[in-house]
Amino acid sequence: MADFIQGFWSLYIAIPTVLGLVGVFCLAWRLSSRPAAGESTGTSGHVWDEDLTEYNNPLPRWWLNMLYLTIVWGLLYLLAYPGLGTFKGLLGWSQQDAYEAEMSEADARYAPIFARYADQPIAEVAADPKARKIGERLYATYCTGCHGSDARGARGFPNLRDGDWLYGGTPEAIEASITNGRQAAMPAWGAILGVDKVAQVTAHVEQLAGRTTDSAAAAAGQAVFQTHCAACHGPEGQGNPLMGAPNLSDDIWLYGGSTKKIAESIQDGRNGHMPAHGNLLGPARVHLLAAYVYGINQAP
Ligand code: HEC
Ligand code: HEC
Repeated sequence: MADFIQGFWSLYIAIPTVLGLVGVFCLAWRLSSRPAAGESTGTSGHVWDEDLTEYNNPLPRWWLNMLYLTIVWGLLYLLAYPGLGTFKGLLGWSQQDAYEAEMSEADARYAPIFARYADQPIAEVAADPKARKIGERLYATYCTGCHGSDARGARGFPNLRDGDWLYGGTPEAIEASITNGRQAAMPAWGAILGVDKVAQVTAHVEQLAGRTTDSAAAAAGQAVFQTHCAACHGPEGQGNPLMGAPNLSDDIWLYGGSTKKIAESIQDGRNGHMPAHGNLLGPARVHLLAAYVYGINQAP
């Protein structure tokens, strides 16, 4: 358990909890005293609208009994379950155990279903409608937050259904991306090249993508590109899946395709990070997910 609720902090939580219950009990006890037979209850002493007074009657018996019951219930609950600082409760129940029990139950239920596909090649799994349904559900749980519910991505998070791959679209490459994650390293060139050369190489990159740009700037930018960029992006800017260097000639942009955004990518660098999911999901689920991602790119 966290350090926060050790020692002093444990008491800091437990004592006010118990005092609160005792306090409610004492208050209820005091308010429950009834007048002796024949005696009247008197009024509270408050007067409104000249002659409107308030009786000081005891609380109804049924209401008080309900309150006592809730106090007893609260005490029994705190004895049985964790609630008083670090005291674990007599039943030994814990959130962590309950979560793990649920997870292992789910694993036992789904493992045989997943295992059926684990040994099949991804292309075959992708063609199986049932497997695709399972993959779709896994995708919705684990991937939509970054790649979007339709897998079309967002700025900085690649579109997974456009057939344009950073790391390659073979079943093996997709499975590796999911299992091990990916870390892109596009260096920042602003300080090395200076503003003018960044503008020139931006013009050249736009030209590679098939746009018409200032041809003098683009020509100067080509020299910069061959010196500093071709090693990763290739001499024609066609990209290199070995390091996730994107194709710059297809006019598909991970970080935005305006002149300003392209210049920003070059000036400041980019470091996209895909977290590894192998340990979290296990190989059988990753296999189904890879088949799902592969499959949505094969669909007509
Ligand atoms: C060390 C390898 C490497 C070098 C050198 C390199 N890049 Fe990159 N570049 C990458 C990677 C990897 C990415 C993808 C970054 C990501 O996914 O976060 C990238 C991304 C980009 C992008 C964004 C593409 C998009 O789709 O939004 C542009 C533009 C770009 N690079 C241009 C250049 C230019 C121009 C140069 C030379 C001045 C250059 N790169 C040099 C590896 C490199
Ligand atoms: C925290 C955000 C995040 C989550 C969650 C995430 N991804 Fe990614 N993913 C990324 C980013 C960012 C990249 C691009 C990395 C780069 O720029 O090099 C990426 C890249 C990929 C790639 C490689 C794409 C290519 O063009 O080669 C695949 C495949 C992929 N993700 C699949 C998945 C699947 C399947 C899941 C769900 C299990 C998932 N991702 C969950 C952020 C995420």
